[in-house]
Amino acid sequence: MFLQTAFILLPFLVLFEIAQTASFSVDPSHFNPRESQKRCSYLRDHGMMAVDCYNLDLSSIPQDLRTNIEILQATRNRIRDLYKDSFARYTDIKFLYLDDNMISYVENETFDPLQDLEVIRLSHNALVRIPSGVLRLPKIRKIFLDGNRLINEGGFVGAPVSESLESLTLANCYLKELPPLKMLPNLSELNVSGNDVKRILPQQLAPMCKLHWLDLSGNSRLSERGESGCDCYLLDSWIRNKNIILQRGYKLNCESDKYDFSHCGNMTEAEEIYDTCKSRAAAKAQEAKVRKTWYLIGIILAAIIIIVMLCLLYLHLRNKTIQQENKFAINNNTDGKSVSQADEEIATDELLKEIKC
Ligand SMILES: *[C@@H]1O[C@H](CO)[C@@H](O)[C@H](O)[C@H]1NC(C)=O
Ligand SMILES: *[C@@H]1O[C@H](CO)[C@@H](O)[C@H](O)[C@H]1NC(C)=O
Ligand SMILES: *[C@@H]1O[C@H](CO)[C@@H](O)[C@H](O)[C@H]1NC(C)=O
Ligand SMILES: *[C@@H]1O[C@H](CO)[C@@H](O)[C@H](O)[C@H]1NC(C)=O
Repeated sequence: MFLQTAFILLPFLVLFEIAQTASFSVDPSHFNPRESQKRCSYLRDHGMMAVDCYNLDLSSIPQDLRTNIEILQATRNRIRDLYKDSFARYTDIKFLYLDDNMISYVENETFDPLQDLEVIRLSHNALVRIPSGVLRLPKIRKIFLDGNRLINEGGFVGAPVSESLESLTLANCYLKELPPLKMLPNLSELNVSGNDVKRILPQQLAPMCKLHWLDLSGNSRLSERGESGCDCYLLDSWIRNKNIILQRGYKLNCESDKYDFSHCGNMTEAEEIYDTCKSRAAAKAQEAKVRKTWYLIGIILAAIIIIVMLCLLYLHLRNKTIQQENKFAINNNTDGKSVSQADEEIATDELLKEIKC
């Protein structure tokens, strides 16, 4: 009993001692010598400036890194919160790896400075919903959210549309249903493996009209016939019809040969959503094409302007040389009047040049 009390009191006694001795300053590295030695290190990866902060016991995004980093590897630390200042200095980041932290809070504008971000890994954290700001980024291609305990509907309620997203991983997220994914016209890869999704309706997949790779493994209830006996059949039909490939050997086992599915209805609604998505994607592609054409025209125009200016400059310099030669010639003639005329001419020329500039 006495020993226990002593142990409980010991830290307080130590703290008391520290407070008493004013000259003693508490240095964190004093308690954890590794902390002071470990530093993020820089390297070149695929021609990009990368910084490796893997497993450094960091509790926040370091703010003393070079500002031109394009890859930030901060996997396996103990970062809990992300704030709108976290990445404000690092606007060049294209690849952001934050797996295996304890991230549970993401302030609204956190990712806004990362307008070039293409890939974000947030696997194995404590998120309950997708940080919707990520979907708003114009160049985002891949989002990894696997190993988070997402709330009902995957925390996607009210999440914005992404025109650029190509791959989304929601594996092992304790999902009981597919999140209400809005129009994702560029998504070709969806991973919802290791959840407990009961059913997926064709109209839930239809807003992802480019979907080609689908990982449904580990959702055994999808093969159940469901209340109406139609869920599995409709999903299976949609997947076949749209040439979606089920990954990792997953097979929907609807026992199509045993039952009659004629009462299950048609897929008119899903097809309509699908068509809207397709036309949206086509419009986006057209937009990109037009932008590219204008870009080319701009470059050509700029080149023409530069060439014309160089020609003008050349002509101007040549004229000046000729005039100077004339001046010498006139000077040699010792005709006072002509000399002043020539001088005047040069002066006017100089004036014009100044005005132009
Ligand atoms: C963050 O954004 C969401 C949706 O835009 C809004 O509902 C919420 O109130 C915002 N939170 C803060 C702290 O601004
Ligand atoms: C859609 O994805 C393709 C690659 O599959 C990419 O080339 C294209 O830029 C993306 N579209 C948009 C709007 O980001
Ligand atoms: C889906 O995600 C899980 C968990 O991250 C992973 O093990 C699996 O390989 C992924 N599926 C595919 C097809 O990449
Ligand atoms: C599809 O089903 C809806 C209602 O379920 C019906 O109104 C529509 O006529 C059907 N379309 C076709 C082509 O069978």
